[in-house]
Amino acid sequence: MSVSVAKGKCIGIIGVGNIGSSILWGLLAADSTSSAIFISDEQQEKLSVFESEPGIEICATNEAVAKKAGILILAVKPNDMQSVVEAIAPFMDEETLLISVAAGVPTSVIESYLGAERKVVRVMPNIGARVGESVTALCGGIYASDADERKVEAILSAIGAVHIVKERDLDAITGLSGSGIAFFAAVIDAMADGGVYAGLPRDLALAISARTALGAAKLILAGDKPSTVKQITASPGGTTIRGLYAMETHGVKAALMEAVIEATKRAGEISSTERRERSVGQR
Ligand SMILES: NC(=O)c1ccc[n+]([C@@H]2O[C@H](COP(=O)([O-])OP(=O)(O)OC[C@H]3O[C@@H](n4cnc5c(N)ncnc54)[C@H](OP(=O)(O)O)[C@@H]3O)[C@@H](O)[C@H]2O)c1
Repeated sequence: MSVSVAKGKCIGIIGVGNIGSSILWGLLAADSTSSAIFISDEQQEKLSVFESEPGIEICATNEAVAKKAGILILAVKPNDMQSVVEAIAPFMDEETLLISVAAGVPTSVIESYLGAERKVVRVMPNIGARVGESVTALCGGIYASDADERKVEAILSAIGAVHIVKERDLDAITGLSGSGIAFFAAVIDAMADGGVYAGLPRDLALAISARTALGAAKLILAGDKPSTVKQITASPGGTTIRGLYAMETHGVKAALMEAVIEATKRAGEISSTERRERSVGQR
């Protein structure tokens, strides 16, 4: 693959841990980029996984990624954001797009780390990216235009569905989707346990549970309301209404709502910590 593509079209990923690598695998599978993807990470072993992947260029430093790529995806922990952003800032120019996946770190805080008027787009994907099934929400900071948001939308549509949202909604989307994919995994696992309890082999139970979740999701995405799915399935005096009653008596709905609410609150706590630390640092 040629690396002589203009810097503005080259993608770099800093941090190829859980989500950075998921995005990278998703982009590679979609084969949607016109140049090599430049990557860096503190952990050599996380980089070496990609050593033999065509279309990947491993860089020794984050600065090297920032020098080569005009579209930088930052996938490091919120606590590492400040040091990483400050170190790469001198290598970014007016056209560089900085895409942050960090939960709870506002665009305004990232802009202040950059210390110049730079284009920042904050995104919240989930690890469904690994199989092209992320749902990614994004919003631009004050220096990013609608066209910049559309550019990021186009890039990330390779890893799943994309929604452009208001920044104030990102904490809730972090709870519902960034974290929520793990909640669905827990539900699929629990349903499979139910199948095992009822006598099914575990592998079969898990395969059927996951497919059943997929079917429900596809029906709803095709336009059916969740209540319609329930109504069509639950005949009077039948098996489904008995199971739904069991869910009600055990507070499953409240527990799932609470999972999203608590994860959203946690994203908010991270946001306020980042803002507080930033304002203390500025004094
Ligand atoms: N995991 C998810 O499902 C998910 C979903 C949406 C958003 N996010 C967000 O994505 C970010 C990353 O989360 P993650 O779960 O992928 O974390 P992770 O697995 O720990 O990946 C982060 C990677 O970045 C590396 N790193 C740390 N400091 C670095 C530096 N200065 N330069 C280069 N690489 C550095 C880490 O190395 P070390 O291990 O040595 O620190 C690690 O390999 C977080 O901000 C999180 O809020 C995560």
